Amino acid sequence: MCGIVGFTNRKRQAAPVLLEGLSKLEYRGYDSAGLAVRDGENDPVVVRAKGRLRILAEKTNDGKAVPGLCGIGHTRWATHGEPSEQNAHPHRTEDMNVVGVHNGIIENYVELKEKLLRHGYSFYSETDTEVAVKLVDYYYKKYRIGPVDALAKTMVRVRGSYALAVMFRDYPGEIWVARKDSPMIIGTEEGASYVASDVPAILKYTRTVYYVGNLEMARLTPDGVTFYDLNGDESPKEPVTIDWDAEAAEKGGFEHFMMKEIHEQPKAIRDTMNSALTEDGHIDFTAAGLTEEMIRSLREITIVACGSAWHVGMTAQYIFEDLVRIPVRVELASEFRYRDPILDPDGLVVVISQSGETADSLAALREAREKGIRTLAVVNVVGSSIAREADHVFYTLAGPEIAVATTKAYSAQLIAMYLLAMQFSYLRGRLTEEELLSMTAELRTLPEKAEKLIGDKERIQWFASKFSNARDIFFIGRGIDYAICLEGSLKMKEISYIHSEAYAAGELKHGTISLVEDGILVVGVLTQNDLYEKTVSNLVEVKSRGAYLMGITTYGHYEIEDTVDFNVYVPRTDPHFAASLAVIPLQLMGYYVAVSKGLDVDKPRNLAKSVTVE
Ligand code: AGP
Repeated sequence: MCGIVGFTNRKRQAAPVLLEGLSKLEYRGYDSAGLAVRDGENDPVVVRAKGRLRILAEKTNDGKAVPGLCGIGHTRWATHGEPSEQNAHPHRTEDMNVVGVHNGIIENYVELKEKLLRHGYSFYSETDTEVAVKLVDYYYKKYRIGPVDALAKTMVRVRGSYALAVMFRDYPGEIWVARKDSPMIIGTEEGASYVASDVPAILKYTRTVYYVGNLEMARLTPDGVTFYDLNGDESPKEPVTIDWDAEAAEKGGFEHFMMKEIHEQPKAIRDTMNSALTEDGHIDFTAAGLTEEMIRSLREITIVACGSAWHVGMTAQYIFEDLVRIPVRVELASEFRYRDPILDPDGLVVVISQSGETADSLAALREAREKGIRTLAVVNVVGSSIAREADHVFYTLAGPEIAVATTKAYSAQLIAMYLLAMQFSYLRGRLTEEELLSMTAELRTLPEKAEKLIGDKERIQWFASKFSNARDIFFIGRGIDYAICLEGSLKMKEISYIHSEAYAAGELKHGTISLVEDGILVVGVLTQNDLYEKTVSNLVEVKSRGAYLMGITTYGHYEIEDTVDFNVYVPRTDPHFAASLAVIPLQLMGYYVAVSKGLDVDKPRNLAKSVTVE
C-alpha cells in the first residue's frame, strides 16, 4: 500500500531524507510519489510526480532543490482515482493551512466531500485523502481549536483506515499524525523526529522506535514526540529498540530482494525454529503464553489468512489433522470476516500474517475476538497491529521482507505451524516423546537441505528460461503437495504475469483438463509417498493430451524420469515438512521466468507488499 515518511529537525535538509526514506518504502506502492517541505515559517513547497520515485527525485534534484528542515513524503498505490500527478499526495487546502499524506481508505469520503462542498470547499483530485485533509482544516477553523482536537474530531467523523501525517501552517517545524488500522511508526534521535509506515524507512538514522497505537495521535518536533489519545489527553509511551540492522533491508549484492530473500530462507527457518526448540529437542511456547492446559482443552482450530499465508494454513491443515486429530478449517480472511462464522468457544483462531497489517486478516482477528474466541497470531513484523491485538503471538523470525512476493516469511510461517502441530500433538498424547524428538531432530536438518536446493538454482534457471513465453501453467498435487502447488502457482503468476493455476491433481479431470493442449507446462509435485502413484497417474493423463511435464519429487523416486520431461529432486524429509523444500524450486521458477521476461521482480504491477485495504 502507500508509504509515508515525515521528518523534522534543526540541521539537515528534509527533502533528501524524505526521498531516501521513501525509497525504502517503494515496495508498498509505486504509481506516484510526492513531498511537501517547509522552510521555516514559509508555506510548504509541494512537489508531486506520476510514476516511480526516481521521477520525483529527478524533479527535485534528489531533494536538493527543495529547501527546509521539516516535511512529509508519500509513495502512492492508487485506490481512489487513477495514478496521476493530480491525485498524488501530499494533498493540501487552497490556503495551505493543512497539508497532508495518508495511507488507507476513507470509506465515507463521498458523504464527507458533500458536506465540505456545502461549506464552500472545492476539490482538485479524486482522492479520499484530499477530503480527509480538508476535513481537518474544516474542524480546525470552525471551532478554532488546535491540531489535536481538529484531528480527533476528524477521526471520530471518518470511517475506514488511515495513517495520516499533516503539517499545519500555524505550527512550523511540526508534524501531526493520526492512525487507525494502517501501520505507522515514529522514530527519534537527538534533535530529530521521523514518522514512517515501516521501520526500514528510518533505520539509517535511528533505532529508537515508537509504534503508534490505534486511534492515537502524535506531535513530532525536532525535540521529540508526544502521544495523545482520542480525548486529546497525553498518553505516554515507551520506545522499542530495533535490533536488526539497515543492511537486513538492503539487497546485499543480489540483483533483487526476492533472490536475496530466497537465500535467507535457511536462516529464517533456523531462527524461527530455534526460538521455540529447546536444546534437548522439546518445544516450548511459553513465550507465546500458550499453556499446556489450554492446548489440551482445544476442540477445533480455525486458521485465517490471505495469499501465501493462507497457503501456509492449507499446508498446516493437513499436518494438524494428521498429527493432532483435531478438526481444522482454513479460511480466507476476506471471506471469514463477513460470514458470521460458527466457532467453538473452546477453539483457537490462528491468524497468519507476515506484515501483521493485512486489513482482512486484522478484521478476521477482531471478529474472532468479538466472539470471545482465543486468538493466536503468527506474525513476522514485531509490534504490528495483528501482533498487538491477538491474545497470543508467535513471531516468525524471518527479518524484514521487502520483495512483494513472499519467500522467507512463508518458509518461517511453515516452521511455526509445524512446531505448533507437533507440540499440540505431543501434549494431547498423540505423539510419543520419542516420536516428537525424532521429528524435531528432522526439523533441524531443514536449513541445510534448503541450502542445498538453493545451491542448485542454475538448473531451474535454465529450465525457466525455456518457459518465459508460456501462456498458461498448471501445478498439480495431492494433500500437502496440493498446498505446495497453491504457493508455486501464486509465485509464478504474481511476478511473471503468466496465467497459472494450482489444482488438486484428482480434480483436474472434472473440467480443467479441457484446457490442456500441446506443449502446455504442467508441474507435478509428488513429495507424499502415499499419494505418489495417484499423482503420477494424473500426470500421465495430461501428458497423453500433449502436456510438457515437470516433476518435483524426493530423491529415490527416480522412476519419475520415465514420466516427466524435466525433474527436480528434493532431499528426503518427514513428509509433513515437505513444503519447506519443494517450494524452493517453485520460487526459483517464478523468479527466473520473471527475470527472463525482464520484469520488475520485486515490485510486480498492481501489487503491494502489505495490503492494508480491503
Ligand atoms: C504473496 O507473495 C503475496 N505477497 C501475498 O499473497 C501475501 O502473502 C498476502 O497479501 C498476505 O500478506 P501478510 O502475510 O502480510 O498478511
